[in-house]
Amino acid sequence: MKLPFFHNPAKASDGREGGASDNPGLPLMGGQIVPGVTDTTRPDETRDESFLTPEPEADARGAPAAQRVPAVTAASGTAGPTKIMARDVSVFYGEKQALYDVSLDIPDKTVTALIGPSGCGKSTFLRTMNRMNDTIQGCRVTGRIEMDGNDINTKAIDPVLLRAQVGMVFQKPNPFPKTIYENVAYGPKIHGLTTNKTELDGVVEASLKRAGLWEEVADRLHSAGTGLSGGQQQRLVIARAIAVNPEVILMDEPCSALDPIATAKIEELIDELRERYCIVIVTHSMAQAARVSQRTAFFHMGRLVETGNTEEIFTNPRERRTLDYITGRFG
Ligand SMILES: Nc1ncnc2c1ncn2[C@@H]1O[C@H](COP(=O)(O)OP(=O)(O)O)[C@@H](O)[C@H]1O
Ligand SMILES: [Mg+2]
Repeated sequence: MKLPFFHNPAKASDGREGGASDNPGLPLMGGQIVPGVTDTTRPDETRDESFLTPEPEADARGAPAAQRVPAVTAASGTAGPTKIMARDVSVFYGEKQALYDVSLDIPDKTVTALIGPSGCGKSTFLRTMNRMNDTIQGCRVTGRIEMDGNDINTKAIDPVLLRAQVGMVFQKPNPFPKTIYENVAYGPKIHGLTTNKTELDGVVEASLKRAGLWEEVADRLHSAGTGLSGGQQQRLVIARAIAVNPEVILMDEPCSALDPIATAKIEELIDELRERYCIVIVTHSMAQAARVSQRTAFFHMGRLVETGNTEEIFTNPRERRTLDYITGRFG
């Protein structure tokens, strides 16, 4: 059974909830503003710069005149159509702006890596996709985020259901202080996805299998989830996310607390999961981004600098800043 993330689809065109400003008439192909783009690009004669069109005037927010790079659509080398579309997304913590006009298309059945130096806004952007920023006091999101063409910031969207559909895995594994079984069964129970114990047992088993953990825990389902190793706990919370039939799984540095062997297991799992889900992973490891993702988006100082197929980003980036970051010159 699929969770309906609309309360009431008839109300889908209603206004937004507090926090996210309405932005009528937003051009869906709105571009990504990259100030100073000409200064920072490499002087490479063979590069095609025809995608750069001059922007003669300052933008509505008073940003300096900049050149626009079209948001990437119809990503080549990816398995699915656009699942999540971000347009001109800005995020503020109180007075402080953390994200500036980010426009990005995230394809389905693909792993998209978000990379960039600490504090550049990767986690902030990740949280816009399941409205986790709503839970942070003083945090304000503007711009538009669509999932399957539906604005996720309208009143018609129940954030709790949205977060089931757009699951999240954090840096530090965070199983509930409950048994392994209960960790996985919790979501299906509260969302009423199963009607009896046999069905629920089936969902728990299938989710643990899909998360690659079943064989290690089948004989101790009723012992504490927190008793597992770090890597197992991370697979347990992935199983917990999977149990409510998500469509998107967001991962915020899911391996940074794990040893290399546990990391390899999670990376293998991510590769399997992409057959079914849209996956977005924040990582500070270039090697990991190169290993697990098909698309990469590079953020710097709250702006999306460049996005493209992972191989291209790592072998032939367009922007000087991307090159400098991936070659370890800063970050
Ligand atoms: N809850 C918060 N309150 C205030 N500022 C925040 C909060 N979370 C993040 N920030 C700020 O927003 C910017 C982006 O942070 P973040 O998205 O966590 O970056 P990253 O994940 O790339 O390291 C940073 O300057 C950070 O200090
Ligand atoms: Mg972060």
